[in-house]
Amino acid sequence: MSSLVSLAEELLAQAKEIEQLLKENNLPSTSFDKDTLELLPDNAQKLRWDLLDTSHTITQLLRGARLSGLDIAFGWTDQLILRIIWRYKLASAIPIDGTATYAEISATSGLGRSLVTRTIRSAMTLNIFDEPVPGQICHTAISRLLAADDGYYSAIGLQLEDIGPASLKLIEAWEKFGDDAGEPDQSAFSLQNGGRSLFTVLAEEPERANRFDGAMKYCVEDKDFNFFDIVNGFDWSTLDKPGARLVDLGGGYGQISQALAKQTQNLSFTIHDLPHVVEKGRKMLPSEFRERISFKEQNFMETQSSENPPDAYLISRCLHNWSDHHSAIILRALIPGLRKGSKILIWDSVLEDRPVKKLSGKFNFQQDFIMATISNGKDRSAEEFRRVLELSDSRFTMEGVRRPEGCKLAMVEVTWNP
Ligand SMILES: C[S@@+](CC[C@H](N)C(=O)[O-])C[C@H]1O[C@@H](n2cnc3c(N)ncnc32)[C@H](O)[C@@H]1O
Repeated sequence: MSSLVSLAEELLAQAKEIEQLLKENNLPSTSFDKDTLELLPDNAQKLRWDLLDTSHTITQLLRGARLSGLDIAFGWTDQLILRIIWRYKLASAIPIDGTATYAEISATSGLGRSLVTRTIRSAMTLNIFDEPVPGQICHTAISRLLAADDGYYSAIGLQLEDIGPASLKLIEAWEKFGDDAGEPDQSAFSLQNGGRSLFTVLAEEPERANRFDGAMKYCVEDKDFNFFDIVNGFDWSTLDKPGARLVDLGGGYGQISQALAKQTQNLSFTIHDLPHVVEKGRKMLPSEFRERISFKEQNFMETQSSENPPDAYLISRCLHNWSDHHSAIILRALIPGLRKGSKILIWDSVLEDRPVKKLSGKFNFQQDFIMATISNGKDRSAEEFRRVLELSDSRFTMEGVRRPEGCKLAMVEVTWNP
């Protein structure tokens, strides 16, 4: 491990590079009021994450072993503060470019004045809200996002209202159903939701379905989640022949197919999903894609038709919702629709099969426990994908894994070799 001084020197050198890039792009220094780093071009973002990794190492070393462990244990208090802000829409009670008093925020939100003051003062320790003049509260960049960006609000709400509370039942679910239970209705989420699986809850509760949809749309479109890097995850020109068709399994409302339609000229797309998703997806599809993207109600657990087999199947971010057993069923259901050499492209988080300690590499491991919580699913390493394919049918051959640079997701390329 490097000394504090050498880490600080590394940090300084990295910070200077970033400041230089901000200047070259005519951007001011970043602040809690305005995040200018996210405005840097894509090729500069890697430097930003390097700097963050160094600063995280220094922060954790300085907190020391005792406080670092305790920080994790106390982490629920930060979530609680954000949950109160979320539930009572405290951010929306402040004008985007103005200020409000504690009494005004209380009146708008309906939360008692003393609780508003306690919550907002705690939130300020996280750089959410500011109070430049005593008693006058204004936004910081985080609270402004909560007030102004519905997708961000949904993404935060999904974690705080739906998944986080369910995670408290994870150990209970393991003890009740066994630690290798793979059924979605034996998950922590289902224990928290009257025995119902996530997709049942979404089909039955429109408000939560809207939150889930908003969160998914936000994540798909937010560059930090890398979903659209799928365009660099495969050489799409090899499929882009006149008349060629790709089935986008569990393709949701079709954002991934739309990104691929923009990347290609000839390829057409059939999105398979559950009835309520297909119904909404058809309504939401922008007219420019109507010629090339269509929807079909198809449960991917059920055998695919052997008529009119597509040139390739795409399974984008679906398998991690499911246990190995169920993932093998989804793959086996494809078999009647496959011809020798058919491609199956699995776009998913692929875990590094080695210890990852950098903050920038943490997300996939967090997501692994999100999947464990919501459906007894899991994120997998390349080797674990190979095992799922073997479990499904030995005629599936894993050709390789392609990870676009700096991407959290990777493409597992599979061919059918009967
Ligand atoms: C995590 S989302 C992935 C959406 C999209 N492929 C993407 O990458 O953004 C999982 C999708 O699987 C769909 N799904 C879940 N169970 C399904 C089933 N049994 N048959 C078909 N689709 C299903 C969900 O409705 C949802 O659209």
